[in-house]
Order: sequence, then C-alpha cells, then structure tokens
Amino acid sequence: MTSAINFLDEQATFDLYEPSDNAQVVFTARKMLARMGFDQTGQYLIASAVSELSTNIIRYAQKGKITLRVIHNGDKAGFEINARDQGPGISDMENAMKETYSSGNGLGIGLPSVKRIMDEFQIQSTPGLGTRITAIKWMD
Ligand SMILES: Nc1ncnc2c1ncn2[C@@H]1O[C@H](COP(=O)(O)OP(=O)(O)OP(=O)(O)O)[C@@H](O)[C@H]1O
Ligand SMILES: [Mg+2]
Repeated sequence: MTSAINFLDEQATFDLYEPSDNAQVVFTARKMLARMGFDQTGQYLIASAVSELSTNIIRYAQKGKITLRVIHNGDKAGFEINARDQGPGISDMENAMKETYSSGNGLGIGLPSVKRIMDEFQIQSTPGLGTRITAIKWMD
C-alpha cells in the first residue's frame, strides 16, 4: 500500500536552454501520465500543454525551468506543470491569452489551449522579471 503511494509521488524538474531540451520534458511527461493511468488522448493533450510551455520559455525567455509533479487531493490524483522563467515577462496579458494572438510558428497550441486542456491554470508575469505558470489536470 505504502509503495503504491510512493509510486505516484514523483516529480521531475528540467532546466531548459535550447529547443532540443523540449524532447526530454515531453517524453518524461508522457511516461508519468501513462503511469498515472491517463488514456492516450489525455497523455497526448497534456504532453502538448507541457510542450507549449517549454517552447514558450525557450522562445521568449531563452531559459527557464519546468517541474512536472504528481499531486493528490484526497483520493484524486493530478498532474501539475510548473513553468517558470526570468525572461522579459508578458506586458499585455489580455492579448497573450487570446486565441488569435499567436506567432504561429510553434505547435500552434498556445496559452489559451493550455488553459483549455488543463483543469486549473494560473499565470503570473511581471515585465522585466519573468513568468510563472502553474497548470493542473485532475484524473477523472
Ligand atoms: N514565457 C514567456 N515569456 C515571455 N512572453 C511569453 C512567454 N510565454 C508566452 N509569451 C507571450 O505570450 C504570447 C502568447 O503566447 P502563446 O503561446 O499563446 O502564442 P505563441 O507562442 O505566440 O504562438 P504559438 O504558441 O501558437 O506558436 C507570445 O506571443 C509571447 O508574446
Ligand atoms: Mg506559444
């Protein structure tokens, strides 16, 4: 019993410096999501959200960190993505969260899609200081 809890009690942190760092984060996310029991579609969608946040860090902040974590709320397990950087920050948050506001040369997922895919989404960004995003997907 105890080992089952320990089994799910895992997390991984990644330092992001270059586009190729994305692969390892997405690979690990898929592995954690599969182990948690998310179906293929869930794994794909949530891993896409991870990829989007990781791509944004590298593209806009050059470097930063992502932590993937299995969390628990009572009997419910959830998958938490925490993305943080000390890049330029987002000065126009309203526009950044709009579907239409996109440079369009990434995965085309965008922040609004991350918000839609995940159950909880929080973004804090201060121009000149950086950006911090926490998003959670709970298991059904
Ligand atoms: N970590 C970040 N640091 C600074 N600015 C960011 C960061 N993430 C997003 N942004 C800003 O928010 C905007 C919207 O991001 P979003 O991911 O929705 O779209 P995109 O990256 O432009 O296009 P797409 O993701 O569809 O390729 C970006 O164009 C960028 O200006
Ligand atoms: Mg993007």
